[in-house]
Amino acid sequence: MGASGEAPHTVSSNFKHEPVLLVESLDQLALSPGAVVVDGTVGGGGHAAAILERTAPTGHLIGLDRDADALEAARTRLAPFAERAHLAQESFRDLARVVRDLDFAPVDGVLLDLGVSSHQLDRAARGFRFGAETAADTPLDMRMDTSGGETAAELVARATVEQLEEWFRAYGELPGARRLARAIVAARDERPIATAANLVDVIERAGIGRGRRHHPATLVFQALRIAVNDELEALERGLEGAAQILRPGGRLVVIAYHSLEDRIVKHRLREGARSCTCPPAQPVCTCDTVPVWRVVTRRPVRPATDEERANPRARSARLRAALRLPEAA
Ligand SMILES: C[S@@+](CC[C@H](N)C(=O)[O-])C[C@H]1O[C@@H](n2cnc3c(N)ncnc32)[C@H](O)[C@@H]1O
Repeated sequence: MGASGEAPHTVSSNFKHEPVLLVESLDQLALSPGAVVVDGTVGGGGHAAAILERTAPTGHLIGLDRDADALEAARTRLAPFAERAHLAQESFRDLARVVRDLDFAPVDGVLLDLGVSSHQLDRAARGFRFGAETAADTPLDMRMDTSGGETAAELVARATVEQLEEWFRAYGELPGARRLARAIVAARDERPIATAANLVDVIERAGIGRGRRHHPATLVFQALRIAVNDELEALERGLEGAAQILRPGGRLVVIAYHSLEDRIVKHRLREGARSCTCPPAQPVCTCDTVPVWRVVTRRPVRPATDEERANPRARSARLRAALRLPEAA
């Protein structure tokens, strides 16, 4: 057994993650043989393998992930595709730079399947879960890239009441955000909040979310995870990067798992699809705005009932897709 009480594992053989909305993603990417696609969240390589199959025999896939475990699993999974798969431990916030450095721009498709993988969620040592059976041994880590940066425990130890409140409000939409922020600052003076169990204890003692259907820790953990990994900022930059490297007619596909992410995707695509940003009262357009996107999913695509039944993690998934418009002539 490892320090976390879990059996030791080899990452690639044990990486379990069922790709979500797989058929729908491939359809929206509208792939053809020879296409060059960026998978900004390659994870265990489920989507990536299917993309490489569809783009055979000459297509290329650039797969990015911040998580070294994910990349190791993807490397094994994508080995049969040999030199058609290019993997890098990078954040998709930098995808334009990475793709240009590899000399693959412009590309035909970009996929972002956001959030964490089942593998990350299932391994208590990564700190993304708060289930009672492992909470005492779950360090408050939550970093996708464990090679650097602050852990959730470090953030919780140094943040002010105002910062904590802001994260819980903005990233968790948590009722009682201020109460919890104050409770954390009071509790950490008594003993460090180092494990999931320590944090759940503070949440419960503060009476957050009493009587609600979901465990209140769900929103608190979501908020801290977003703060630790700066996830929403990465998404904003990743969407900008996708617009920079897609060829005209190339497709962007984004799968979001909570409303904050989905809202950003919806608004950025909608803004990018506008051909005029003049004030509504202005009679003649003077802005020369050039639209970047044509949104191809009027409403977000949701998993079919069968997929939801087979994979509970698919239930919250929302897919949006857009086509890169040509630069103005
Ligand atoms: C839902 S999983 C992707 C699963 C993948 N589509 C598959 O089929 O196996 C999300 C992955 O995105 C990674 N990730 C999250 N934010 C990232 C970022 N800013 N840059 C790169 N990878 C990121 C996570 O580490 C995780 O492996």
